[in-house]
Amino acid sequence: MKTPSFFNRLKGQTALVTGANSGIGRAIAINLAREGANVVINYISNEEETRKIIDGIEKSGGKAIGFKADVSRQEEVRDMFRKAIETFGTIHILVNNAGIQMDAPTDEMTLEEWQKVIDVNLTGAFLCSREAIREFKKRGLDEQVSVSAGKIICISSVHEIIPWAGRANYAASKGGMMLLMKSMAQELAPHKIRVNSIAPGATRTDINKEYWSDPEKEKEMLEKIPYNRLGETEDIARAAVWLTSDESEYVTGTTLFVDGGMTLYPGFAEG
Ligand code: BGC
Repeated sequence: MKTPSFFNRLKGQTALVTGANSGIGRAIAINLAREGANVVINYISNEEETRKIIDGIEKSGGKAIGFKADVSRQEEVRDMFRKAIETFGTIHILVNNAGIQMDAPTDEMTLEEWQKVIDVNLTGAFLCSREAIREFKKRGLDEQVSVSAGKIICISSVHEIIPWAGRANYAASKGGMMLLMKSMAQELAPHKIRVNSIAPGATRTDINKEYWSDPEKEKEMLEKIPYNRLGETEDIARAAVWLTSDESEYVTGTTLFVDGGMTLYPGFAEG
């Protein structure tokens, strides 16, 4: 996929991206760095991949560090923000991307499967947002750097509005994320802190590899996407760059669906 050549829209800013050493998080981290942001790559496993991403960013003249932390544990989240601020001075952008699926029919779902998904996808977003907001408020607005005092992006899903059988834990976490995002946006707008979500559709990552790597299953997936192709991580990363840049100054409390029309009730296309 061709990458548009905008650069330096985030110069002088620091971004922390959770779950940033694979899939959508990795693409976002790389694209934010390409726009001039210093990047903190949060990860939970696969240090080698984290290293590769950091090397790539550094080779292109950017700055990045990795930090291993479980976003659902407040001590680890606190340590991560402390390290980020110690390294880069402050932080301007948080991308709540870390997310997991543990699918099971509701009557077979264990409490652990329910809890783990809620913990990572929803509580993790709360814990990281809380730390970011504390820093945004403490530092306040610096218009030389950005017209906003801070920006938070939640990587939600089309399943914040589309119910999903066999994945009640996941859909509940994303539905929860929607009102977490909107409530924070309402609360923080007077502080010039913007909070928004991106809702990807079926995006080609490891989380749904089982589907797109099997031609039959991929065909079934495509039937749900009017635009007739899977999303790529770059599609999401480009939206993230715009939503974190000053170009979207007046946008807060909204979800940007980047889904090839998956939320357009494609079953009704034939009337
Ligand atoms: C899920 C994917 C799924 C997509 C569309 C995402 O939020 O993580 O597994 O393919 O939604 O259903």
